[in-house]
Amino acid sequence: MLGNKNINDSNHLQIAGCDVVELAQTMGTPLYVYDEDLIRDNIQEYKQSFQENYPHFSLAYAGKAFLCSALCSLLDKEGWWVDVVSGGEYYLASAAGFPVERIIFHGNNKTPEERRLVLQGGVGRWVVDNEVELNFLLEEASSYTSYRVPLFFRLIPGVDPHTHQYITTGKIDSKFGLPLGEAENVILKALQSEDLEVKGLHCHIGSQIDQIDPFLKAAEIMLQFMADFRKKYDFVFQELDLGGGLGVPYLDEEKGRFPSFHFYVRAICEKVKSVCDELSYPLPHLYIEPGRSVVNTAGSTIYRVGSVKEIPGVKKYVAVDGGMADNPRPILYGAKYQARIGNRVIGKKERVSVVGKCCESGDVLIEEIELPSPSPGDILVVEATGAYNHSMASNYNLIPRPGVVFLRGGKPELVVRPENWYDLVRRDIIPGKNKEV
Ligand SMILES: Cc1ncc(COP(=O)(O)O)c(C=O)c1O
Repeated sequence: MLGNKNINDSNHLQIAGCDVVELAQTMGTPLYVYDEDLIRDNIQEYKQSFQENYPHFSLAYAGKAFLCSALCSLLDKEGWWVDVVSGGEYYLASAAGFPVERIIFHGNNKTPEERRLVLQGGVGRWVVDNEVELNFLLEEASSYTSYRVPLFFRLIPGVDPHTHQYITTGKIDSKFGLPLGEAENVILKALQSEDLEVKGLHCHIGSQIDQIDPFLKAAEIMLQFMADFRKKYDFVFQELDLGGGLGVPYLDEEKGRFPSFHFYVRAICEKVKSVCDELSYPLPHLYIEPGRSVVNTAGSTIYRVGSVKEIPGVKKYVAVDGGMADNPRPILYGAKYQARIGNRVIGKKERVSVVGKCCESGDVLIEEIELPSPSPGDILVVEATGAYNHSMASNYNLIPRPGVVFLRGGKPELVVRPENWYDLVRRDIIPGKNKEV
């Protein structure tokens, strides 16, 4: 099993001391649950690894993986930054009381409304993705701010991280960032502005990466760019953000395939130190932006089994009360998951296919899995759903999105309430009935 789970005397699955059957009964299904201590451990482990290996650093959690106020508060207490990629994520983090001075604002097409919201609200680092965006900033910064906007520039290092093509972002052909050959002029333009302050450079090569080398290669390319720039223009970038992307296991058999946080952080720090030494470049303040690796293993989704249908000689379908609306990763990336029957963890197994309730044949959560005779009413727990599930969920088929519960010391705490029917029609203009616009 992934994470801190165990089986209790009733043959029920327990997560962080909570019986999943009781959780399903009291909080309803489907339900995203997180082992809060596991998130805290991950936050601590990253921090400790940096403290042991590098003199000045900041850790920024990538909110796109999973964001809610309770998580913002955990991150804030540990001094982390939060990286946001839309006005919505920025709004949530700042509404949760997260200090805007520790927010990094990303995005390859920041809208006028988003730019205004963030400029007026304040921001820790603004990551310029392209020249059009810089031109907007040059026009708008002084009207919305009384401070110099602290900038990173996102560059494309041209490194292939060997992961799924939809989550590869650092190759030459990418919608994100400035090609190395174009970046120089864009940065020079910003350096001439009194409204902007160039702090450093950023790259992010992709997600769910299982090797260290692509990260090291990217670090080397970024530092070489920084050194070349200094030589030409006598300007030193004070900061370097190497993005996120460390992969984590989704299946028991993948345990051990991914570098540990400590190994990853140490390798990056060593690389940055040795390249800076070679290039006689002052050590930049270093940032990384992990998302998935902080929360994925800590999360699980609890469903209830509804219909079970056997097509003789073909397969047995086990349908749950969620599916691609709360977890679009299988249909989007062919992502693989594992699951347990929460109310009968150990039992005689049979091969089944776990499907969702959406009107798509592709709404398959797990193509093939051995489970102990799933029957209607059983509780099914899909593991490692902490990242890119809640944040990617939709209302397809007008299915309400599940709530989120943090579990700690045997106690559940609702941190995001589940949607209700009213949430689904709230924005609809119903003449004579609904005046809300
Ligand atoms: C700019 C940036 N930083 C950080 C991340 C987080 O990546 P991961 O969740 O793989 O750690 C992403 C995700 O795609 C990203 O685009």
